[in-house]
Amino acid sequence: MEVVILPDAAAIGVAAADLVEDLLRDRPDAVLGLATGSSPLPTYDELAGRCAHGRVSFARARAFTLDEYVGLPPEHPAAYARVIRDELADRVDFGAEAVVGPRGDADDVVTECARYDAAIREAGGIDLQILGIGTDGHVAFNEPGSSLASRTRVKTLTEQTRADNARFFGGDRSAVPRHCITQGLGTIMEARHLLLVATGAGKAEAVHQMVEGAVSARWPASILQLHPTVTAFIDEEAASRLELGDYYRFVQRHKGGVNALVGSDPLP
Ligand code: GLP
Repeated sequence: MEVVILPDAAAIGVAAADLVEDLLRDRPDAVLGLATGSSPLPTYDELAGRCAHGRVSFARARAFTLDEYVGLPPEHPAAYARVIRDELADRVDFGAEAVVGPRGDADDVVTECARYDAAIREAGGIDLQILGIGTDGHVAFNEPGSSLASRTRVKTLTEQTRADNARFFGGDRSAVPRHCITQGLGTIMEARHLLLVATGAGKAEAVHQMVEGAVSARWPASILQLHPTVTAFIDEEAASRLELGDYYRFVQRHKGGVNALVGSDPLP
C-alpha cells in the first residue's frame, strides 16, 4: 500500500484527480468505481473543474458506484445514485447511462445484488476504484464482521454508521435506512487499482487499523493490505495515529530513488 500523507482535503482532491486524469488520458474508455460520502467531494470538484477546462474527458468512460440505501428511489436527495449524479456525473461529460449503481428500490434486492456484481464483471472490471473509509473501518458499506471474500449483497448498517450519515438526512438518524446494498470486499478487491481517501481526526483509528493493523473482518478496510495496487491519500489528522507515519513520509520524499538508479552507471 502506498501511503501518501498530504496536508489537507484540498491537496488530496488535487492528487486524486491527477490519478483519474492520468488514467483517462491513457485509457479514455476506462471503468471507474465511484464512492459517495464527503471524502471524495474535493476530488469530484477538481475533476469537474478540469473537465470544464477541457483537461479531462469522461465521454468514453463508464462508472459503477459502490453502494446504495435499500428502499430509496434514485431521485431521493440522500440516495447515492442522486448524490453521484449531483456531485460528479452531471458536472462532467459522461455519456447517458454511463454511470450506474445498484437499485435500492428494486423489488428483489437479492437478485439485484447478483445482477450488479455480474454487470461489473461484464464491463471488464473496474480500473480505478475510489474509496472512502468509515469511522468503524468500513469500506463501501462493508461493516465490521463482513466476509473478506464477500460479493455485492444486502447489509445491515451499524448504528454508528447511521449516526455518521444522519447529516445527509437532515440530522435525523431514524430517517437513515437500516439496510443497504454494497459491493462486497471480494468485489472491491477485483478492481485493478484502489484509491482510498481519508481526512479528519475521526478517521485516524480506522486508518491506523487499515494500514498497520491485522487483516481482519473487525476492520474491513484492512483487507486492502492484500491488494497489490493501493494508493492511500491521507491528511495529517487522519494520519495522526499511524505508528510508521515518519517512514511513509520518508518514502515519499525519496520516491523515484530506485528508478533513478536504473540505467545509471554501475557503482564502482
Ligand atoms: C459511507 C459510505 C462509504 C464512505 C463512508 C465514509 O457510509 N457508504 O462509501 O466511504 O461512509 O463517509 P465520509 O467520507 O462522508 O466520511
